[in-house]
Amino acid sequence: MFLEEKTAIVTGASRGIGKAIAVALAREGATVVINDLSQEAAEAAAAEIRANNGRAIAMAADVADSAQVETMVTRVMEECGRIDILVNNAGITRDTLLLRMKEEDWDAVLNVNLKGVFNCTKAVSRFMIKQRSGVIVNIASVVAVMGNIGQANYAAAKAGILGFTKAVARELASRGIRVNAVAPGYIQTDMTEKIPEEIKAKLIESIPLGFIGQPEDVAEAVLFLVSPAARYITGQTLHVNGGMVMV
Ligand code: NAI
Repeated sequence: MFLEEKTAIVTGASRGIGKAIAVALAREGATVVINDLSQEAAEAAAAEIRANNGRAIAMAADVADSAQVETMVTRVMEECGRIDILVNNAGITRDTLLLRMKEEDWDAVLNVNLKGVFNCTKAVSRFMIKQRSGVIVNIASVVAVMGNIGQANYAAAKAGILGFTKAVARELASRGIRVNAVAPGYIQTDMTEKIPEEIKAKLIESIPLGFIGQPEDVAEAVLFLVSPAARYITGQTLHVNGGMVMV
């Protein structure tokens, strides 16, 4: 258990990929702060981890709102005394073709998926700098590097995350803080549940390994990046996509 005594915040962790990441971190001994929009949903995920002998606290906050993020991070410091890991996982989609994309669709996705990463990273790094240690993992997407019809907002936000990751990795490296991204491909969650069956079949054809990934596949990659085994890795993107895109 290499995360004993460590505190981790995972955003958007009440379900899907975020929940799998929280479960994996708790399994290694971390106290995990389950963030999500709804306190009730976050509490349910935290209770599940505690039922399996893990340590978890639920804290609702909208990552797009810097004041709510500040309050959450202050509370984590009060309750846990330190923050060792931040996983910026919260994300949304508002898919539609460019000409139909409303300004609200653009703003909503950029605010949660990109500004949310900025808000949380900024709030947490203040304490990590004082500790002179920390690890940040940002969840991007394969769409950041390949683009996708109907996802101009989402692709822009996710590609933004990759640039942000590299800039912040350079800024914080001398303070003992590593910053990396994980770019998942097609993972079975509520987010991908909405994709029509015929498009799903086409997607699977484009995956060399021939199957859809599970949230645990992403969680294992995150676990590696936060582990001491990755101590020499920063500013990188780890692609977890069954070979769908090879970069
Ligand atoms: P999901 O929709 O199942 O879960 C996302 C979670 O984030 C939800 O619990 C939601 O309530 C929460 N959330 C949304 N807005 C929030 C906000 N403003 N503040 C706090 N929490 C908020 O999605 P999934 O599939 O688990 O995705 C997780 C991350 O992985 C996202 O960043 C997504 O873009 C990314 N991703 C997912 C892929 C997939 O195939 N499922 C592929 C590539 C990336």
